[in-house]
Amino acid sequence: MCGIIGGICQNNITPLLVSGLKRLEYRGYDSAGLVILNGDNALQRVRAAGKVVNLENNIDSKTVNGKIGIAHTRWATHGEPTTKNAHPHICNGDVGVVHNGIIENFLELKIEQQAQGYHFSSDTDTEIIAHAIHQTLQDSDGLLAAVQKAVKTFKGAYGISVISPKNPGHIIVARSGSPLVIGVGEKGNFVASDQVALLDVTKQFIFLEEGDIADITLDSITIFDKSDIQVERKIKTSKLQNRQISKGDYAHYMQKEIFEQPQAIADTLESRITKDKVLTSAFGYEAKDIFEKIEHIQIIACGTSYNAGLVAKYWLEDIAKIPTHIEVASEYRYRNPIILDNTLFITISQSGETADTLEALRAVKKRNENIHSLTICNCAESSLTRESELTFLTHAGVEIGVASTKAFTTQLVSLALLSVAIGRCHGQVSAEQEKAIVTGLNQLPGLIKKALAQENQIIELAKTFKNKFNALFLGRGPMHAIAMEGALKLKEISYIHAEAYPAGELKHGPIALIDKDTPVIAVAPNDELLDKLKSNLQEVKSRGSQMIVFEDEDSKVTPMNGLSIIPITNNLGRITAPIIFTIPLQLLSYHVALIKGTNVDQPRNLAKSVTVE
Ligand code: AGP
Repeated sequence: MCGIIGGICQNNITPLLVSGLKRLEYRGYDSAGLVILNGDNALQRVRAAGKVVNLENNIDSKTVNGKIGIAHTRWATHGEPTTKNAHPHICNGDVGVVHNGIIENFLELKIEQQAQGYHFSSDTDTEIIAHAIHQTLQDSDGLLAAVQKAVKTFKGAYGISVISPKNPGHIIVARSGSPLVIGVGEKGNFVASDQVALLDVTKQFIFLEEGDIADITLDSITIFDKSDIQVERKIKTSKLQNRQISKGDYAHYMQKEIFEQPQAIADTLESRITKDKVLTSAFGYEAKDIFEKIEHIQIIACGTSYNAGLVAKYWLEDIAKIPTHIEVASEYRYRNPIILDNTLFITISQSGETADTLEALRAVKKRNENIHSLTICNCAESSLTRESELTFLTHAGVEIGVASTKAFTTQLVSLALLSVAIGRCHGQVSAEQEKAIVTGLNQLPGLIKKALAQENQIIELAKTFKNKFNALFLGRGPMHAIAMEGALKLKEISYIHAEAYPAGELKHGPIALIDKDTPVIAVAPNDELLDKLKSNLQEVKSRGSQMIVFEDEDSKVTPMNGLSIIPITNNLGRITAPIIFTIPLQLLSYHVALIKGTNVDQPRNLAKSVTVE
């Protein structure tokens, strides 16, 4: 939710701010802006509604030139995505601020500030930050002290970067609830919401902790914790390469990420299994002790990660025989759930920064100290990994397309390993069963390549969605969760309204939706529910629907008029099937979106990392 970049160096900072913003666009892309301290020691700001390229077109490189600056790409929370609401926000020419997060008490602070004579030129919550720092700057010894004082009045979440002509040569940054990373360069120092924005200038990073405030100059970085005590934070070397964040030969990040899945899954499995066994220690050295103790599992996640958790509920109860509940984080965090002792609280998240998921974890830890927490996460230096007792990293690599693809399938692989590891600790998984599951997982990269090879058939099917506005996805058992993920993908990138139902539930209402303009997409592995699913498909077909069935080669769904059957794989187990059947649904959404002409990687109204409630 919003991307921040800033820096101080020996040359003009503007090109880095713009190129960094482009890399942060996945966090928000409805308006962008930057402010630099120019040669006259004045704040010089440029802003534009829309994407970073609009900002770039507004920048006159001869005049917008300074060695210190901050910039922002926005995902609107308070105030429409217009130029006047774009960051940075400035107070009286003295303070320039960019902000990621939400200041929840902004109305209260705004009223106080208006009474003190501050004028507001935007509808954002961020503007109160600029005024608050301006106010504290009047009686503080420098910008750092002013920010330290001001943030104490904020409630909510923030990652901020601040500059001021009153204290040139300093960028003050602060984080609470929103990520910030400092880039330690040879020719300057930098800050960003995500290290990907800074890879052109450094590989050395300091990941700020909750409540940290840092004073960044050309040759120093001084960090204070939430009690304003100076602290040391480790510098870590990033392994990320620029090529990992480029599109390569692909038209879109989403397409690249779909095709990266065989490798991402192989990477996620690497060093986590032997030929026939899951390594429990891959979940952390205390994992075995914790897994042996747990009696209940609660999974919390959002969006695609929630869908992965839904599949895992089947696996954990089926394989590990542990009662498992799952709920979307935004609901769970605001109710009064009964949290039993010896519960393993599992969060699933690509980014590790999703505010709802993170806050749910924090709330649960406050309510019951006898729970254990595990996060399945794709970002090693994220808030969720820092705040969870156990971490299992999905090795999907950087995922930039807003629609999650390889993060989902690697989450499923991780959750499959977890089900086996917990099941073994509880004596529920025989060596033979474990070997069969591990063998199936090892085959995944090859099977996914085979599923990807069906792309041409899927391209043809996608054409039939050109004038469609609704679609229905069906599955049974864990495949219902895969149908949900298929529907979510189609909605978010092609803007077609899509619903997913357990196929047996259709007759209780949704079957009324079926007509010739509502395509029905079903996933039909050859499992114990296949015959039931086939009957459900008959019910749908006889109502005149146009249907697509992705099947197991052995499923032998009966051919009918208006029914397209695409074999995806053959005779898979309960673990591998959901992962493989995800692939055709991702490809279908991608190709429908191309036909609809939407922005595949940056669909409207969305952002990759949702760090606000
Ligand atoms: C999926 O395509 C979405 N981009 C979205 O639902 C996402 O999965 C959700 O916001 C959760 O994000 P997380 O995995 O980073 O926590």
